Amino acid sequence: MHLVLFNSINLITNKKNQMVSKKIEKALNDQIALEAYASFLYLSMASWCDQQGLEGTSKFMHRQSTEELSHMMRIFHYLSEIDGHAISPAIKQAPLTYKSVRELLTQVYKHEQKVTTSIHKLVNLCNKENDYTTLHFLQWYIDEQREEEALMRGILDRIKLIGNGPQSLYFIDKELEKINQAQAAMEAAEADAGA
Ligand code: FEO
Repeated sequence: MHLVLFNSINLITNKKNQMVSKKIEKALNDQIALEAYASFLYLSMASWCDQQGLEGTSKFMHRQSTEELSHMMRIFHYLSEIDGHAISPAIKQAPLTYKSVRELLTQVYKHEQKVTTSIHKLVNLCNKENDYTTLHFLQWYIDEQREEEALMRGILDRIKLIGNGPQSLYFIDKELEKINQAQAAMEAAEADAGA
Protein backbone atom coordinates (compact mmCIF):
# COMPACT_ATOMS: atom_id res chain seq x y z
CA MET A 1 0.00 0.00 0.00
CA HIS A 2 2.77 2.42 1.02
CA LEU A 3 4.79 1.32 -1.99
CA VAL A 4 1.87 2.13 -4.33
CA LEU A 5 1.48 5.57 -2.74
CA PHE A 6 5.23 6.20 -2.98
CA ASN A 7 5.23 5.23 -6.67
CA SER A 8 2.30 7.56 -7.41
CA ILE A 9 4.05 10.48 -5.71
CA ASN A 10 7.20 9.62 -7.59
CA LEU A 11 5.37 9.68 -10.93
CA ILE A 12 3.87 13.10 -10.19
CA THR A 13 7.28 14.40 -9.09
CA ASN A 14 8.90 13.09 -12.27
CA LYS A 15 6.37 14.94 -14.41
CA LYS A 16 6.92 18.17 -12.51
CA ASN A 17 10.68 17.79 -12.83
CA GLN A 18 10.54 16.74 -16.45
CA MET A 19 13.88 16.99 -18.20
CA VAL A 20 12.66 19.15 -21.06
CA SER A 21 11.37 22.72 -20.66
CA LYS A 22 7.93 23.63 -21.96
CA LYS A 23 9.50 25.96 -24.54
CA ILE A 24 11.73 23.22 -25.96
CA GLU A 25 8.86 20.74 -25.83
CA LYS A 26 6.71 23.09 -27.92
CA ALA A 27 9.52 23.83 -30.38
CA LEU A 28 10.21 20.13 -30.85
CA ASN A 29 6.51 19.49 -31.42
CA ASP A 30 6.48 22.29 -34.02
CA GLN A 31 9.44 20.60 -35.69
CA ILE A 32 7.56 17.27 -35.66
CA ALA A 33 4.70 19.03 -37.49
CA LEU A 34 7.08 20.58 -40.03
CA GLU A 35 8.76 17.24 -40.81
CA ALA A 36 5.35 15.57 -41.07
CA TYR A 37 4.13 18.24 -43.50
CA ALA A 38 7.32 17.78 -45.57
CA SER A 39 6.57 14.07 -45.77
CA PHE A 40 2.99 14.65 -46.97
CA LEU A 41 4.03 17.47 -49.32
CA TYR A 42 6.63 15.22 -50.97
CA LEU A 43 4.11 12.39 -51.15
CA SER A 44 1.70 14.69 -52.96
CA MET A 45 4.50 15.70 -55.32
CA ALA A 46 5.35 12.03 -55.95
CA SER A 47 1.74 11.40 -56.89
CA TRP A 48 1.65 14.37 -59.30
CA CYS A 49 4.90 13.19 -60.95
CA ASP A 50 3.38 9.76 -61.35
CA GLN A 51 0.36 11.33 -63.08
CA GLN A 52 2.71 13.12 -65.50
CA GLY A 53 4.54 9.88 -66.36
CA LEU A 54 7.67 11.11 -64.55
CA GLU A 55 8.46 7.76 -62.98
CA GLY A 56 12.05 8.50 -61.91
CA THR A 57 11.08 11.77 -60.22
CA SER A 58 8.11 10.09 -58.55
CA LYS A 59 10.39 7.41 -57.05
CA PHE A 60 12.79 10.12 -55.88
CA MET A 61 9.95 12.05 -54.19
CA HIS A 62 8.60 8.88 -52.56
CA ARG A 63 12.04 8.29 -51.05
CA GLN A 64 12.18 11.90 -49.80
CA SER A 65 8.72 11.52 -48.28
CA THR A 66 9.72 8.37 -46.40
CA GLU A 67 12.88 10.07 -45.17
CA GLU A 68 10.90 13.00 -43.78
CA LEU A 69 8.66 10.60 -41.91
CA SER A 70 11.74 9.07 -40.31
CA HIS A 71 12.93 12.58 -39.36
CA MET A 72 9.58 13.17 -37.69
CA MET A 73 9.71 9.87 -35.80
CA ARG A 74 13.26 10.51 -34.59
CA ILE A 75 12.08 13.68 -32.79
CA PHE A 76 8.88 11.98 -31.63
CA HIS A 77 10.83 9.20 -29.88
CA TYR A 78 13.40 11.63 -28.52
CA LEU A 79 10.71 13.80 -26.94
CA SER A 80 9.12 10.79 -25.25
CA GLU A 81 12.52 9.65 -24.05
CA ILE A 82 13.15 12.96 -22.25
CA ASP A 83 9.69 12.88 -20.63
CA GLY A 84 8.12 15.38 -23.02
CA HIS A 85 4.69 15.00 -24.58
CA ALA A 86 5.18 14.17 -28.26
CA ILE A 87 2.13 15.29 -30.22
CA SER A 88 0.89 13.56 -33.34
CA PRO A 89 0.35 16.60 -35.60
CA ALA A 90 -2.61 17.73 -37.68
CA ILE A 91 -1.52 17.89 -41.31
CA LYS A 92 -2.76 20.61 -43.67
CA GLN A 93 -3.52 19.60 -47.24
CA ALA A 94 -0.47 19.82 -49.49
CA PRO A 95 -0.94 21.24 -53.02
CA LEU A 96 -2.21 18.63 -55.47
CA THR A 97 -0.87 20.11 -58.70
CA TYR A 98 2.34 21.84 -59.81
CA LYS A 99 3.16 24.06 -62.78
CA SER A 100 6.15 22.00 -63.86
CA VAL A 101 8.72 19.56 -62.55
CA ARG A 102 11.20 22.46 -62.31
CA GLU A 103 8.80 24.45 -60.15
CA LEU A 104 8.15 21.36 -58.01
CA LEU A 105 11.85 20.74 -57.36
CA THR A 106 12.40 24.44 -56.61
CA GLN A 107 9.63 24.16 -54.02
CA VAL A 108 11.39 21.16 -52.46
CA TYR A 109 14.58 23.21 -52.15
CA LYS A 110 12.67 26.13 -50.58
CA HIS A 111 10.99 23.79 -48.12
CA GLU A 112 14.35 22.31 -47.12
CA GLN A 113 15.65 25.85 -46.51
CA LYS A 114 12.63 26.49 -44.29
CA VAL A 115 13.37 23.31 -42.31
CA THR A 116 17.00 24.35 -41.91
CA THR A 117 15.96 27.77 -40.55
CA SER A 118 13.62 26.07 -38.11
CA ILE A 119 16.36 23.69 -36.88
CA HIS A 120 18.73 26.63 -36.41
CA LYS A 121 16.09 28.48 -34.37
CA LEU A 122 15.70 25.37 -32.23
CA VAL A 123 19.46 25.28 -31.67
CA ASN A 124 19.36 28.93 -30.56
CA LEU A 125 16.54 28.16 -28.16
CA CYS A 126 18.50 25.23 -26.69
CA ASN A 127 21.41 27.56 -26.05
CA LYS A 128 19.14 30.06 -24.30
CA GLU A 129 17.53 27.31 -22.23
CA ASN A 130 20.87 25.59 -21.48
CA ASP A 131 19.44 22.36 -22.89
CA TYR A 132 22.67 20.69 -23.99
CA THR A 133 21.05 17.28 -24.38
CA THR A 134 18.67 18.53 -27.08
CA LEU A 135 21.45 20.62 -28.57
CA HIS A 136 23.49 17.44 -29.02
CA PHE A 137 20.46 15.59 -30.42
CA LEU A 138 19.95 18.34 -33.02
CA GLN A 139 23.48 18.01 -34.42
CA TRP A 140 22.27 15.12 -36.60
CA TYR A 141 19.60 17.43 -38.11
CA ILE A 142 22.11 20.18 -38.84
CA ASP A 143 24.22 17.70 -40.83
CA GLU A 144 21.18 16.18 -42.53
CA GLN A 145 19.90 19.61 -43.64
CA ARG A 146 23.31 20.55 -45.05
CA GLU A 147 23.27 17.32 -47.09
CA GLU A 148 19.67 17.77 -48.26
CA GLU A 149 20.17 21.37 -49.32
CA ALA A 150 23.34 20.39 -51.21
CA LEU A 151 21.47 17.54 -52.92
CA MET A 152 18.66 19.83 -54.05
CA ARG A 153 21.03 22.57 -55.20
CA GLY A 154 22.89 19.94 -57.25
CA ILE A 155 19.64 18.77 -58.82
CA LEU A 156 18.57 22.32 -59.72
CA ASP A 157 22.00 22.98 -61.26
CA ARG A 158 21.73 19.85 -63.42
CA ILE A 159 18.24 20.83 -64.53
CA LYS A 160 19.62 24.18 -65.65
CA LEU A 161 22.29 22.38 -67.68
CA ILE A 162 19.70 20.12 -69.31
CA GLY A 163 17.90 23.26 -70.49
CA ASN A 164 14.53 23.47 -72.21
CA GLY A 165 15.07 21.29 -75.27
CA PRO A 166 12.30 19.05 -76.64
CA GLN A 167 13.41 16.03 -74.60
CA SER A 168 14.36 17.93 -71.45
CA LEU A 169 11.59 16.35 -69.35
CA TYR A 170 12.81 12.89 -70.32
CA PHE A 171 16.39 13.75 -69.34
CA ILE A 172 15.35 15.40 -66.06
CA ASP A 173 13.37 12.30 -65.13
CA LYS A 174 16.32 10.01 -66.02
CA GLU A 175 18.61 12.20 -63.92
CA LEU A 176 16.28 11.95 -60.91
CA GLU A 177 16.04 8.20 -61.38
CA LYS A 178 19.85 7.96 -61.30
CA ILE A 179 20.03 10.09 -58.15
CA ASN A 180 17.37 7.98 -56.51
CA GLN A 181 19.27 4.78 -57.29
CA ALA A 182 22.50 6.27 -55.97
CA GLN A 183 20.75 7.24 -52.72
CA ALA A 184 19.26 3.76 -52.37
CA ALA A 185 22.71 2.20 -52.86
CA MET A 186 24.22 4.58 -50.31
CA GLU A 187 21.55 3.73 -47.73
CA ALA A 188 22.03 0.00 -48.33
CA ALA A 189 25.80 0.40 -47.85
CA GLU A 190 25.23 2.37 -44.62
CA ALA A 191 22.82 -0.31 -43.36
CA ASP A 192 25.40 -3.02 -44.15
CA ALA A 193 28.11 -1.08 -42.35
CA GLY A 194 25.88 -0.70 -39.30
CA ALA A 195 24.81 -4.37 -39.27
FE1 FEO B 1 13.59 16.65 -42.50
FE2 FEO B 1 14.43 17.48 -45.12
O1 FEO B 1 13.73 18.07 -43.57
